Amino acid sequence: MSRSRIVIAIAFSTSVLVACPPPRRAPTEPGAPTAPDAREGAIDERATIEFRLEGRSVRTLTLRALRERIVEEVVSNFDPYYGRDKRFRALPIERVLAIGFEGSVEGPLATRPFVLRARDGYTVPLSGERLLEGGGYVAFADDEHAGRWDPIGPRRSDPAPFYFVWKQPTQINLETHPRPWQLAVIEIARYESIFPHTVPTRAAEGSPARRGFATFARECVRCHAVNREGGRIGPELNVPQNITEYRPVEQIRAYIRNPLTFRYGAMPAHLHLSDRELDDLVAYFTAMREEKFDPDAQRAADAGYARDP
Ligand code: HEC
Repeated sequence: MSRSRIVIAIAFSTSVLVACPPPRRAPTEPGAPTAPDAREGAIDERATIEFRLEGRSVRTLTLRALRERIVEEVVSNFDPYYGRDKRFRALPIERVLAIGFEGSVEGPLATRPFVLRARDGYTVPLSGERLLEGGGYVAFADDEHAGRWDPIGPRRSDPAPFYFVWKQPTQINLETHPRPWQLAVIEIARYESIFPHTVPTRAAEGSPARRGFATFARECVRCHAVNREGGRIGPELNVPQNITEYRPVEQIRAYIRNPLTFRYGAMPAHLHLSDRELDDLVAYFTAMREEKFDPDAQRAADAGYARDP
């Protein structure tokens, strides 16, 4: 897709935007507040989501622009971070993506690989099939309070301006249905192009290291970096030292399965991982000892201290 076609697409979408009357609020569920107007002031209409295609910015939309074209809904479900039912005002992800990538993507979005990026460095890869399976929403307000969100997560963060949620009772497992808060960027990109240095390139297809890599990509990279690529919530696991170079293997396995038996921290337990999956993860980390890539090493050495992540 050429740049000029994208410009035309944007111009077209703007004219559509002017032509359509603003949608009204969707009917709310029984018991949900129906008069949001008094609380509108607390919503930051200038908050933005950026849409990227293979590393290139396609467009950045404000909440105001999205709400002018998408009928909001009140979404309520059990929320695993809050540990109880929560209610949000939200926009269906299908509509958000259709507008965000309007005119710039050929074919169905559901066949594309996505990456959701949060402001705090949480970076979660997610297939289009999963993202668009129905029930995914971009929440822009906590519907239980006027003008504020309940703090979320172990560090009691503010989820604003956007919190990704799922509506169905079956969509409450964070491994299969992750919920990034402070959502800032929605990107279409292959995993390997975003995190190329996390791939164990010397390991054979189908080897334990490759299987461990698949688990890492699915469940860990959203919080952990390998070779400085990945999330920044947890520690980097390969450079300067690989985790297997300073922690005994048995401890690594036990930690991954249930970190809370060691210390109260921000890493969730992974009780569902089998012994073989843990072995494969260790095989992956061990393989990465031979594939170190550390763009920050020289800078850190020059400065005499480790750079902030
Ligand atoms: C939600 C974020 C998150 C996810 C998902 C996550 N971790 Fe962690 N991890 C952390 C944090 C934060 C720490 C730092 C200690 C703590 O808070 O428990 C940590 C610590 C660790 C440590 C110990 C490092 C050390 O030297 O003490 C290992 C090993 C580890 N994680 C591996 C994994 C693996 C493997 C996965 C995937 C199966 C994973 N983590 C998934 C956040 C996460």
